Amino acid sequence: MQALPAYAKGKEMLHVIPGMPPVLIDPPRGDAFACRNEYALAIDYEKEPPMFRISDTHYAATWLLDERAPEIKPPSPVCSSFFAEGYQREGCEETAERKKTSVVEECQNDAENRETLVAVNHLTKSFSIGKRNVHKAVDDVSFRIYKGEVFGLVGESGSGKSTVANCVMNLCKPDSGEILYKEIDTCCSKEFRKNKKMLQCERQIIFQDSTSSLNPRMKVKDILSEPFRIQHITPKRGTLSAEAAFQLTYVGLDNSYLEKYPSELSGGQRQRVAIARAVAMEPELLVADEPIASLDVSIQAQIVNLFRHLQKEHGFSFLFIAHDLSMVRFLCDRVGVMHDGKLVEVGNVEDIFRHPKHPYTKALIESIPIPDPRMERQRAGEKEHE
Ligand SMILES: Nc1ncnc2c1ncn2[C@@H]1O[C@H](COP(=O)(O)OP(=O)(O)O)[C@@H](O)[C@H]1O
Ligand SMILES: [Mg+2]
Repeated sequence: MQALPAYAKGKEMLHVIPGMPPVLIDPPRGDAFACRNEYALAIDYEKEPPMFRISDTHYAATWLLDERAPEIKPPSPVCSSFFAEGYQREGCEETAERKKTSVVEECQNDAENRETLVAVNHLTKSFSIGKRNVHKAVDDVSFRIYKGEVFGLVGESGSGKSTVANCVMNLCKPDSGEILYKEIDTCCSKEFRKNKKMLQCERQIIFQDSTSSLNPRMKVKDILSEPFRIQHITPKRGTLSAEAAFQLTYVGLDNSYLEKYPSELSGGQRQRVAIARAVAMEPELLVADEPIASLDVSIQAQIVNLFRHLQKEHGFSFLFIAHDLSMVRFLCDRVGVMHDGKLVEVGNVEDIFRHPKHPYTKALIESIPIPDPRMERQRAGEKEHE
């Protein structure tokens, strides 16, 4: 519960459960969670706890419920301050003054004081469905990513987020519009060819599905050194293997993983390898397409903390695509909301969460589940009342 971003408001890092889930080939003795549990007792390392009855409907398997267990103070209750602030209600109140500020003005105001790294202007991309039908996946989308910021892109599945990311990374050719990276028009093939090496080194992507984005026939060490081999770059740590070992340690995996194949890793570990490969080149722009969507909350927290750390250390700019809005609120500086291929709202993350203007943004924010049954019931009651 504490690892949820909903409870991390105002904190620099998310709470993480130390360690990794147990290796199932060699399961630990006793309680599998013992080595990650700060309240573990000696018996936890010996014997698995039985189910203790708390009420007719509530049972829990922890030795802490045994009458012989020492009394310990439970961890501080997770508070609902994030939601208690009542952004949903606040969000619906529109002051006349705020209403006047349009998306365009917001961009202009911001643009005056900050250096732009990526400018996406009137991007449009259609896919043909069958012989006659055309689907506009991205429709006249414009936004900017400033140097050193985390720009979030949110929206439901199929709203065109990945297509935007792919266009930004030149993995997909737009129908019209321009994408400027450091004022270079990356969609113009002549400009792209001229700056190919710089563009390929400075921009990196982490895909949503790490299983299909890592070559299953390459060992982790080869995956990590591949970008250096392709670009003929001498790594900072001297040799390719030293560099691979360094990058792996950086994302919290030890060197024994260098000799493993992607299929021998868990989802979280594979995603860390994908992240290590992307940050190895010390990119200026990192595009992450739902990088944590398939991970459990504790591993999500570890990876998001890692992003925070890397961003602080390298100062890179981030295009962070996600559908978990509380994570976006925790990590991003600005956010763009996509709906049906269009960008319907863009602005500072706190402004958008506190004063959403577009009905779709409001609906999206209202649909964030509250990890507190009492508050969730209260919200449902209020909605019914309305
Ligand atoms: N290669 C493709 N061919 C045909 N349609 C596609 C292709 N890629 C994406 N689409 C369509 O474009 C729309 C937007 O897709 P996508 O950008 O992947 O959305 P998101 O990442 O927001 O879920 C979807 O309706 C999807 O079916
Ligand atoms: Mg997608």
